[in-house]
Amino acid sequence: MDSSEPSPSGEPDDRPVVPAQRSDQDAYLRVRDLRVRFDTEDGVVRAVDGVSFAVERGRTLGIVGESGSGKSVTSLAILGLHDPKRTTITGEISVGGRQVVGLGDEEVRRLRGRDMAMIFQDPLSALHPYYTVGRQIAEAYRVHHPKANRREARQRAVDMLDRVGIPQPARRFDQYPHEFSGGMRQRAMIAMSLVNDPALLIADEPTTALDVTVQAQILDLLADLQAEFNSAIILITHDLGVVGQVADDVLVMYGGRAVERGSVEQVLRAPQHPYTWGLLSSVPSLHGDADADLVPIPGNPPSLINLPPGCAFHPRCRYADRAGSRSRTEVPELRPAGEGDSAGHLVACHLSAEERATFYAEDIASVGVAR
Ligand SMILES: Nc1ncnc2c1ncn2[C@@H]1O[C@H](COP(=O)(O)OP(=O)(O)OP(=O)(O)O)[C@@H](O)[C@H]1O
Ligand code: SF4
Ligand SMILES: [Mg+2]
Repeated sequence: MDSSEPSPSGEPDDRPVVPAQRSDQDAYLRVRDLRVRFDTEDGVVRAVDGVSFAVERGRTLGIVGESGSGKSVTSLAILGLHDPKRTTITGEISVGGRQVVGLGDEEVRRLRGRDMAMIFQDPLSALHPYYTVGRQIAEAYRVHHPKANRREARQRAVDMLDRVGIPQPARRFDQYPHEFSGGMRQRAMIAMSLVNDPALLIADEPTTALDVTVQAQILDLLADLQAEFNSAIILITHDLGVVGQVADDVLVMYGGRAVERGSVEQVLRAPQHPYTWGLLSSVPSLHGDADADLVPIPGNPPSLINLPPGCAFHPRCRYADRAGSRSRTEVPELRPAGEGDSAGHLVACHLSAEERATFYAEDIASVGVAR
């Protein structure tokens, strides 16, 4: 990484590199000080600005944040899917001990599909309308198993369709995507992602387009499959309620940066960042009082071309002045949330632990949310 690169506030960026997680060294996926920049006609978009985390096999990391916070850009960088001509990526991404940043196209392609796979929000973007669902899953298998013959690949695809809960999988194998319902297409895409038994699975808003019942089924399915395949999973969502259901750890992103990180228990039970408080009060399933209104976070997410100086959340933070002028001038580092906190709960906010505890209590009282 180029540490002399100016930060969005124009100051030299001398923030220390934040350690990934306590399990960092053993983790299957390790991301360290990831920065992703796009050069556009309007200026440089700093879509991801110094993010670090790690995911072990058998664990699920939820990445949450509003639209435009850099969640998808982070996952596309891990999968090596950005156009290198328009994108500058620095930092480290290690997948099963191999560095992805700087790897050639061919090598990343080999990793993708075999060691890591992605489930997109919209299954139609991954399933080709002209080919049968089964053929696409079988082909995805054969790309990484060149010795498998057609019959074996077909059998593997039918087994996977069965495994993800598609009824009559042998018959469904020969149907086209438009003959599947939305929930079934999402299952088929999960089958395709898992056909090569990837160690890392990234699910980007996998349930947003589905109704609530199907959403719950898909989340259950992901949890079952994780137990069976022992994958490391990243689940990207704007919904902290979804994270509460399936994730082990959470990373909260705002303006391309990590603002809070910890276990689900820590972040949902004792959230530390005012932005996380805002996200929680806008989630129906975490909203304790059914009669109280959900409270959206006032204002809009920032432009990543021109981030506000200091803490990027300050224009929307009701506690900005309580932390003095620093909220507007200094980018807060991600640091342990409490004195002597060794359990890895990190927050990027200038308020002290005591102030956060006091203001969080005030926040709950003011929005009428029992969390
Ligand atoms: N190829 C690109 N060129 C320029 N800007 C881009 C490109 N891809 C993403 N961005 C910008 O990067 C920022 C982060 O985008 P990203 O897709 O990661 O957001 P997100 O957190 O996934 O949001 P959503 O919840 O809407 O999916 C956005 O401002 C987006 O416009
Ligand atoms: S640093 Fe200041 S503006 Fe940012 S979240 Fe903390 S109090 Fe709010
Ligand atoms: Mg996205």
